Amino acid sequence: MKTQAQLKQEVAQAAFDYVRGRVGDKAVLGIGTGSTANCFIDLLAGIKAQIDATVASSEASAERLRSHGIPVLDLNAVDGVDIYIDGADEANAALELVKGGGGALTREKIVAAVAREFVCIADESKLVARLGAFPLPVEVIPMARSHVGRELLKLGADPVYRQGVLTDNGNIIIDAHGLQVLDARTLEERINNITGVVCNGLFARRPADLLLLAGQGGVRTLRAG
Ligand code: 5RP
Repeated sequence: MKTQAQLKQEVAQAAFDYVRGRVGDKAVLGIGTGSTANCFIDLLAGIKAQIDATVASSEASAERLRSHGIPVLDLNAVDGVDIYIDGADEANAALELVKGGGGALTREKIVAAVAREFVCIADESKLVARLGAFPLPVEVIPMARSHVGRELLKLGADPVYRQGVLTDNGNIIIDAHGLQVLDARTLEERINNITGVVCNGLFARRPADLLLLAGQGGVRTLRAG
């Protein structure tokens, strides 16, 4: 029986092979955040001479990339992102995701929005029939904490302030527990419309294009649609 750590390593290797086969010189890679993305970053170190540029979805990933000698650019310094590789907390068959367990959801959503192709990498425990068992992370301007909490209550969530966490953007995270995610796209827009919300961890308006999913039998490829 493979452990979850082994599955993460396996799916990172599959993403590495996929990326190597698709990008030519001058490609800009978007790099996600979390333990699965970290496995991918460590593999990239082996081909750093061939990497023109990366853009990172968090300070932690940027630091890890730089520690390997891999160039990291500001998103505003590149014309586009060819492929974005990142993990997820949950994914459904439509490749809609819940992200932000590591608190990097806003930058992740920005890089995903710019990327021509978004490849999500995960172990099979992340594939769910319906999103929402994982508490939905919501990034919030600090002074709006109570207001946003009350609005999330109205949506049927149990909002929990993530104590002691400040995002790379200087904001707080509220985790919305117990949400019924029947229509992920509508809910994503509704939560984003609460004043004081910077962004929420539903990736439905911009889902992944490809999901690489590692299980006991190997790595499966799921496409949207
Ligand atoms: C960070 C994220 C991560 O992609 C998500 O939490 C999955 O992390 P891991 O690969 O460690 O399971 O959204 O904000």
